[in-house]
Amino acid sequence: MDKQQLIEAIDNLRREKNAVILAHYYTVPEVQEIADFIGDSLALSEMAAETEADIIVFAGVHFMAETAKVLSPGKKVLIPDPEAGCSLAESCPAERFAEFKARYPGHTVVSYVNTTVDVKAHTDICCTSSNAVKVIESIPADRPVIFAPDRNLGNYLRSLTGRENMVIWDGACHVHEEFSLERILQLKAAHPEAKVLAHPECKAPVLLVADFIGSTAALLKFTEEDDADTYIVVTESGILHQMQKANPSKTFIPAPPIDSTCGCNDCVYMKMVTLQKIHDCLLREAPEVEIEETVRQAAYGSIRRMLDLK
Ligand code: 13P
Ligand code: SF4
Repeated sequence: MDKQQLIEAIDNLRREKNAVILAHYYTVPEVQEIADFIGDSLALSEMAAETEADIIVFAGVHFMAETAKVLSPGKKVLIPDPEAGCSLAESCPAERFAEFKARYPGHTVVSYVNTTVDVKAHTDICCTSSNAVKVIESIPADRPVIFAPDRNLGNYLRSLTGRENMVIWDGACHVHEEFSLERILQLKAAHPEAKVLAHPECKAPVLLVADFIGSTAALLKFTEEDDADTYIVVTESGILHQMQKANPSKTFIPAPPIDSTCGCNDCVYMKMVTLQKIHDCLLREAPEVEIEETVRQAAYGSIRRMLDLK
């Protein structure tokens, strides 16, 4: 099948099977183009909780599809490539996390959604990069907090909220760790008019030179409302597709990682999702995300409490 036939076949299958395709901004442009809904992690989980479709195809990474299944256990949740993991989620194995948690009794556990369902089962409330401050501020100031698994987001939250009573798991995302302050400063020197936009998973020195810090959806919104012409974008390169689409006359420069030949401002996992795999999983109704019911129930509360925090 050529690309056009593949797109038509996907359209037919999703109509016949009452399926919805949810895609994250980091997927390749052609996947974003066929999605029913594109969003950041928060918007995608809200969508997964609300959709009336019978089947959810999650064009993203495994923890996102798992979150959809936790929220909608009665639906079939398909993941085009089950190998599409997340280095940040992997940096926090559930058994080690349970031991870590046991060392800090009385702490409220806040986990970024970029965790496995087993870590969520040990969590009081989840957050994403777009609601993390709100989640932290919902916890009484005198109650100590465990934040997992992203140390960069955790340190950023500590500086924003002034919460000294926060212990942070030492995890990170391989994409955001690779951005180099030196290369960003070189780009700023070459484009003095450009604004720097960064995701809070970036390291502290990078965040210090950013004009705006936010989730993928917040960064995109900023480019739509701001009046600059040029932006240096310090996050996974997939977001540039929607930025350019929304602002055809503006210039977006992807920030280079330390080694600009490594291609590591691409998330290898997000890039595993292809049109062919979306087609095949819809056709076969597999691979399907399955979660043991006791684990699902244990994880559910942490995600629900996040979504209920208005
Ligand atoms: P957002 O919640 O900003 O979409 O981020 C998801 C993610 O995986 C960042 O690396
Ligand atoms: Fe995980 Fe990083 Fe990829 Fe986001 S960009 S899905 S945090 S590996």
